[in-house]
Amino acid sequence: MTKLETNQICSLRDPRVRAVLDRLHRAARWDLLRFVRLAPTIASGLLRRKTFPESVSPEAMKDCYIPVSRDQGSFLYLTARALGAKRIVEFGTSFGISTLYLAAAVRDNGGGIVIGSELQPSKHQRAVAHIEEAGLAAVVDVRLGDALETLKEVPEPLDLAFLDGWKDLYLPVLELLKPRLRPGAVVLADNIFTFRKSLRPYVEYLQSGRNGFESVTLRISDGTEYSCYLG
Ligand SMILES: C[S@@+](CC[C@H](N)C(=O)[O-])C[C@H]1O[C@@H](n2cnc3c(N)ncnc32)[C@H](O)[C@@H]1O
Repeated sequence: MTKLETNQICSLRDPRVRAVLDRLHRAARWDLLRFVRLAPTIASGLLRRKTFPESVSPEAMKDCYIPVSRDQGSFLYLTARALGAKRIVEFGTSFGISTLYLAAAVRDNGGGIVIGSELQPSKHQRAVAHIEEAGLAAVVDVRLGDALETLKEVPEPLDLAFLDGWKDLYLPVLELLKPRLRPGAVVLADNIFTFRKSLRPYVEYLQSGRNGFESVTLRISDGTEYSCYLG
């Protein structure tokens, strides 16, 4: 466990971690402007009945952070701490904001690994640099490429999974990870309200009681699905 000079045992109070998170959250505020620039591409995708953000190429979205909020990040950290999580998988790392919260928790839990996944090469590169800058590289492995490939091999058993990539893949990624979850593992998924329609099959799968999970949608940010794997 990392005890800081101030006798803190929460890495979110580590000045190195805080400095990177503060800077990235500030930079992410400009996402609104980035989305305005992408409006024509998004609109033409929607006209072709494609859902956003799948209708926009990862290359076009390469400057968009679309991160978890600070509250959501703290929720990720606290959930991972409460679980004593040592093995965490993340679908959709972007610039690494959510990864930093999860990695802080793993370090404070005494060590382990956060396996991240990012499709876009420049985002992957910057996420790796941010994690290094925060001093958390020892507990993170961000894998470049399609998560359906890069997450095929992950350490078992998983304590926690966080889903935040493109929404049409939540269910396939969950199915990929399910055999590796320990009983009592938690799966968190972002954007349930924003992408209500495309995520309905995902939410139904988890809330039906037929697939080994119990689950509830929490009103954190734009909807966070909190699911516990009961085995
Ligand atoms: C909403 S952002 C993730 C934000 C990040 N979790 C955070 O809080 O900072 C979604 C990311 O998922 C990535 N992504 C989308 N589909 C993916 C796939 N099949 N495999 C890996 N990454 C993917 C996108 O490139 C994008 O950067």
